[in-house]
This record gives sequence, structure tokens and C-alpha cells, in this order.
Amino acid sequence: MDKLSSLARFKASCPYLGRTKSSTLRTLCTSSSPRFPTLSRLTEKATQCPVMGPALATRSGQMVAGYASVAGSVDVKKLHQEKGVVIDSDDIAKCPHASKALAAARMAEELSAAKKRTDALKVQRAASQPSTSRASSPAPTGCPFHAAQAAQASSTGAGPASAHAGGFDYDQFYAAELQKKHDDKSYRYFNNINRLAAKFPIAHTANPKSEVEVWCANDYLGMGNNPIVLETMHRTLDKYGHGAGGTRNIAGNASWHLNLEKELATLHRKPAALVFSSCYVANDATLATLGSKLPGAVYFSDSSNHASMIQGIRHSGARKVIWKHNDLQDLEAKLKEFPKETPKIIAFESVYSMCGSVGPIKEICDLAEKYGALTFLDEVKLHLSSSEYSQLLMCPSQVHAVGLYGPRGAGVAEHIDYEVHKAAGQSPDPIPGTVMDRIDIITGTLGKAYGAVGGYIAGSTRFVDIIRSYAPGFIFTTSLPPVTVAGAHASVVYQKEFNGDRQLMQWNVREVKKRFAGRGIPVVSGPSHIVPVLIGDASQAKEASDYLLQRHNIYVQAINFPTVARGEERLRFTITPGHTVQQLEHVVDAVDDTFSVLGIKREADWAAVGGRCGVGMEAKESLEPIWTNEQLGLTGINAVVPKTRLAGEPKQVDMRAVRIARANFDHLLGSLEQQQPVSVGLGSMAGLKMKTGIATTTEANFVIPAAVPTAVTA
Ligand SMILES: Cc1ncc(COP(=O)(O)O)c(C=O)c1O
Repeated sequence: MDKLSSLARFKASCPYLGRTKSSTLRTLCTSSSPRFPTLSRLTEKATQCPVMGPALATRSGQMVAGYASVAGSVDVKKLHQEKGVVIDSDDIAKCPHASKALAAARMAEELSAAKKRTDALKVQRAASQPSTSRASSPAPTGCPFHAAQAAQASSTGAGPASAHAGGFDYDQFYAAELQKKHDDKSYRYFNNINRLAAKFPIAHTANPKSEVEVWCANDYLGMGNNPIVLETMHRTLDKYGHGAGGTRNIAGNASWHLNLEKELATLHRKPAALVFSSCYVANDATLATLGSKLPGAVYFSDSSNHASMIQGIRHSGARKVIWKHNDLQDLEAKLKEFPKETPKIIAFESVYSMCGSVGPIKEICDLAEKYGALTFLDEVKLHLSSSEYSQLLMCPSQVHAVGLYGPRGAGVAEHIDYEVHKAAGQSPDPIPGTVMDRIDIITGTLGKAYGAVGGYIAGSTRFVDIIRSYAPGFIFTTSLPPVTVAGAHASVVYQKEFNGDRQLMQWNVREVKKRFAGRGIPVVSGPSHIVPVLIGDASQAKEASDYLLQRHNIYVQAINFPTVARGEERLRFTITPGHTVQQLEHVVDAVDDTFSVLGIKREADWAAVGGRCGVGMEAKESLEPIWTNEQLGLTGINAVVPKTRLAGEPKQVDMRAVRIARANFDHLLGSLEQQQPVSVGLGSMAGLKMKTGIATTTEANFVIPAAVPTAVTA
């Protein structure tokens, strides 16, 4: 992709690019700035834009940091000597890495000089303005869009309150706070990715004609576009419209919400559940309420807990004791300090032990019993735990769990007692002695593997009633729309009944890991569904992500500090059951090419420098996948290898699970099985070919009521 066509992709999002003629853009991006020769004239212009300016400053900082290790000629010579590289000149610029480092440093210098010049011009301009103008705000120059906005604001007096002389300068305050984010490199840039339901896992960028493959979404199982989910949502939308109509207390408490709560309680084999607008809200509202109600309560919070739990505990006003991540000795030492009768809540995220089936969750339950504490388990995320594992890899390993683990998708607590839960089927009754039964409070998200939005808690009837009755975050907010709740409900039932998506996802993950290994692509070893490809440098990780998008139409996000430690930067691939054989091949080829073109270290290169993050190091223990061969159905007399989809092949849809999901909605939407469903294109459900319970079908077999309203108005 040449520069101009890559710029064209941003025409819809950047008003300047949108308004400027292609011929002008071509001139600007192909000619050098007269003042700063390493920059194009367009880049120099971009340093003046309030959005691009800070972004470029951050980028240049990253580039310099990325090449810092080869910045000095002495270092370069030493490195060459150590590696036995002979360069027949003392000129370090002959070394491709060193010359890249120098170029990066020079460019960073010039970017910073260009920015300074802009700022100086701004100050000059401001000084020549009357004192009532917005002189102290960072008035944008250069970018016509921002300049026009600023001009309009000052002419209409519609600017922020900082325009009032002598008043607090709000705008300046915002600018300073944002600058802090730029300075510590934590300012976030969001890509514009529009996932297409009919083409999963394809999305388009800001330009609807520019399509990319998505390799990092949290919609792990493709439930965001599963036909039974879409069908249920279409039918619900047509009958019940959009919007809940109020809080749960005022017109927003429908059968939809109550039914989903019953379903989630059954999923976790708990007496009750409560739905919130997200799991963030569920955690915040529940922990805040519980801690403020229980007299003298003390929270024991794992040091790695999610922000939503930290906020909830803070909002409760209760005392908080932080225990070292996954350190049971530390937890016990801290629990011991309080009398048994003091109300205590141990709050943590799911943990899977690498050392066997009896994991830390069980041991936390033992401690809770011993010291009289409640257990609060966030099943959204899964931490992998074993002292040896973490010593070996020195890398945090956390992945999302609910929907993805356990024979019915109930999460890690269910997965730990896999066979027991599988044998118990869909009984709502608790199974005494299982880890899931021993946990008092479970929270989960509907926004990841279930492909929807929302969060929930599950626990005892009285506990749930307390939160329902007292939690402001539950009471004083509009409830989720019926259509969203219906989609989430269909998704939970389908995944509870059908294990095939989880199995195929894990199979595809194994395939990609194997193929990456065959090309020497360094994958950080781990037993979960995430495929982290080690890059080991912040700027290279960003460069690799950009290159994959621009050259190969592959979208995968770079993961940098502070999410991972510096030097452990990576690309985090999520592989779904919807990715095709061809897409799996494409991603492996594309990553291979990216490594070659950008000169990124492969497995052997890491081994040569002693390894990093477990890559290129001798494994001290074999990291078996969490999903065993038995759980994937690969062993026994009925062994079947999951079948990866071929390009153009319809999605696999389990018709047994579809029928069970549909039956849940009969009393509200009417029975589709008894109607003569008018489907779009292919005729009725009866026409589906059934084979071993799994029908391969397309959305065309499903009723889309928007197109055929008679099918749903019964
Ligand atoms: C551990 C944990 N809890 C809660 C949440 C919030 O979930 P939601 O996106 O439903 O608000 C997340 C999101 O990533 C999470 O990782």
C-alpha cells in the first residue's frame, strides 16, 4: 500500500485529510520539509495538529527508546564484536540497525523541533490577541479543522468556561492532564474497526471499502453474530422495540431480565443472579454495597485485581487489606490478624493451577472457611498460576474465562471439576464439594465470549436481594434493553448446550501455535486460548501491528507497557472457531513476512541471547493446555477431531442447542418450531440437513423477522 492509499483510509476520520485534494496530499507526503529534512511536509504539518502532534511526539519517543540499546557507536562496536559481525569500516552507519537508530533519533529531534516551533508561533499569536481571547488555551493551528473550530468558538463565545477572565482555566487544566498521559506514554489511540456480522471475522476500517481480518477481538466464539442470537434479537426488537423504558424499578423490569437472571443462576448452579449494565458496574456496585452494609467489614483484595473491583472496594469505605497476587501464605497471614467473627470478603479473579486439578481457588475456599470469610470470584479473567510457571516465564498471564472454560462455559471454577459438571448436565442444583459450589459470589461478563454486553453476579438468594435492594449502581440506572438481554440469553443457552465452539477454538489455537513454532515465530508459552507473539520492543510491536494492517489487512493490537513489562511487548492474537483454514494460513504467512521485513527476533535469536519471557529458554515444566485431549474429544472410541472451517463454508450451528435456545422464548415470542417459518431464501428449518446433531447452515436458514414480519407477529 503506497503512502497516499494508506492516508486515504483516514479521510473519513480526519477532517483535514478528508477535505484536502489527493494531489495536494501526494505533494505534501512526497516532499521534504525545507526546515526539517527527515520529515515530509505533511508530517511537519501534522505536528501542529492537537491530535496528531502529541501522537507524533509519543511515537518519536518510542522510536528512540526502541533503538536506545544501539544508540552509541561504542555500544554498536561492542555488540558487533560479541556477535562476531564484521563490518569493514568504522562507520557505524554501515550497520543497518545502528543507521536505523540514528535515523530514528534524528527524526525524533526534528519532530520535537517542529513542535517547539509551532508552540512558539502559538505564543506569539496569542500575545498579539486581545486579552479576552482564548490566549491561554492550546489554540490549534495548522490543522484547518481545529483552527476553524477554535475560530468559531471565539467568535460565538461558545468556548469553555476558561474564556471567563479571572476564572479557573479549565481548558488549560485538561491540556495539562492529557499531556501527562502523553508523557508517560499511556495516552490511548483507538482504531476504527467495524466488525461485519455476515463476514465474521472480517471488519471494515473507517472506510467501508477497506476490509481487514480481526485477530484480537474479545468476541472469542463469534457469538456476536451467531444466527440464533441474531434471530432472537430481530424477533425481540420487532415485538418489544428498543430501550428498556426505565430503571428496573420503573418500567424496566421485564420477563427478559428475570429469565436471563434465572439462566445465569442455573449456569453457575446458584440460587439467584442479578444482571447489570456491565461487569465493571456489577463489581463496583456489589463490592461497594456489601462492604458498606456489613458492619466493620474488611476486604482482602488480591494485588492484581481488576480496576472495577478496586473501585468497588474503595467506594464501600470498608477497610482493605491487599494480599500478594496468588500468594496463599500472605493471604493467610493477613486473615489471621482479624477475629473470626469480623466480616471478611476475599476478592479475587479466577486462577488456574498449572500443577494439577486442585487449584488455588480451592485453597482460597479452605482459608475462607477457616477464617470465616466470604469469597468473591470475578470469573471474567483467568490467571495462570504456579510458582514454577511464573518464575519460568516472568510474564503475567491473564485471559478472559467465562463462556470459554468448563463443559457448559461457566468458567474456571466449573473447569476445575470438568467431569463432575459434565455428568450433572443442566441441573440448576449445586453440586456439594465442587469449587463452583464453595464460592459464595461469582461475577461475570456478557460482553466477551457471549458476544453481547452486560455483567452479572450470582450467589445466594438473600445476598442477591441485598444488592438488588441497596446497590445504587443497580437501582438508579436504566436497565439493559430487552433486545440486548434476549441476545445475551440466547448466547448463554447456546453455549451452555454446545461445547463444540470452545473445542474448535482450542483446536484452532493449537494449530496456529504449531504453525508459528514451525516458522520460528516466538510464542510466549501458555496453556490458554491466547496466542501471544513476543516482539520485545515497544516501537517494533507498534510497527508490526501497523505493517500487518497496512500490508496484510490483518488487525491485531500491539500490547505494550504498562499491560506487559517493558521488553515483553507482544502481539496478542485471539483465534476463534470462525477463522477459516485459509485465514489461519494467511495469518501465519503474514506474521512470518512481518518478522522478516522488520527484522524482528525469532525464537532462535532469543535463544542466542539467553531467552526472554520463556521464549528461547529451556522449559522446566511442560505447559499442558488447560483443555486436555479428552476434553477436546480427541480420545476414546467416539474421538472426533474438530473441523476448522473452510473459506466460503457456512458456519457450524448446533441445531439441538438452537432448538433449546428457541424454546426459552416461545412464551414471549411464539413457537417457531410449530409455525411455518418463512426463512430468507432457503425454506423452513425442516429442510436442514441434520448430521450427528450438528447442522452446517447459514443465516439464510434463520428467520429474519425484519424482512418477514408475518413470522413473528403471531
Ligand atoms: C477481570 C475483569 N473484570 C471485569 C471486567 C469488566 O467487564 P465488562 O467489560 O463487562 O465491564 C473486565 C474487562 O476486561 C475484566 O477483565
